Amino acid sequence: MWTLWNFLVLLTIVVSLVTGQNGIPTSEESIDDLVSAGVSENAATGIVKFDRKLQEPFEMEKENPVEAKKLEQVLHKEFTEYIESLSEDDQAEYQKYIKSQHMLRFLGILVIFGLLHAANIHISGKIECSKTLFSFLVAVKEFDWHFGNDRLYTSKPYDSLYPHHYSAYAEVNDVDELENDKYEIFVSFWHTCSRDDKWKYYENRVGYVKQQGEYYLQHNVNLTNAEGELSWRDWEDWVTSNGFRSF
Ligand SMILES: *[C@@H]1O[C@H](CO)[C@@H](O)[C@H](O)[C@H]1NC(C)=O
Repeated sequence: MWTLWNFLVLLTIVVSLVTGQNGIPTSEESIDDLVSAGVSENAATGIVKFDRKLQEPFEMEKENPVEAKKLEQVLHKEFTEYIESLSEDDQAEYQKYIKSQHMLRFLGILVIFGLLHAANIHISGKIECSKTLFSFLVAVKEFDWHFGNDRLYTSKPYDSLYPHHYSAYAEVNDVDELENDKYEIFVSFWHTCSRDDKWKYYENRVGYVKQQGEYYLQHNVNLTNAEGELSWRDWEDWVTSNGFRSF
């Protein structure tokens, strides 16, 4: 539910940013907006008139900041008095409208910065390897049922000297996965812990995380001659046996 909501908010923000390039809404558009929010037409017209007047101090500010400040205070006082002179219904609808606008903007900012429902994932663990020295890179990925796998992080290449270990950090947020409330996380390694010293590729499941929070996951792997990708089937079996989703 939240994910869909976030997506809609994001769309709203994007649309308003794009249309915003065509200039601020005309008086008619603003009046229509208020009227469809439930404010009476008379009140809407009055409010928009004030709204336009309230732009004047902004325009004055560069040339005459002192006068601009004074004008702003006078207009604000007049505006508050005007709002208070409206019928109770109009006042209530107007307040509701303003709140929803602020809420949208606020949520939009959260979504854009990925603060809402972002999961920060720190994974680290021991690497079992029969060699004293080998090289590896580690990547953190999210299993995505619809769009294939999402790589969230890839390390630089490391030369590892016994005792071997790794650590990785990744961030996922809502916008990445619209429908699920959990992320299935796996790690993959390119490594030379092989008999013939050739690079091998190996994937291993870590587990799942919920959409929000800070996660510190301990996950040990055995890279000795390890290779192989996780198949779709592997995921289905694992996910079903962990009881949190089945398809
Ligand atoms: C790691 O994997 C290798 C190769 O499959 C195996 O021989 C070894 O016993 C494993 N080590 C541990 C600690 O499980």
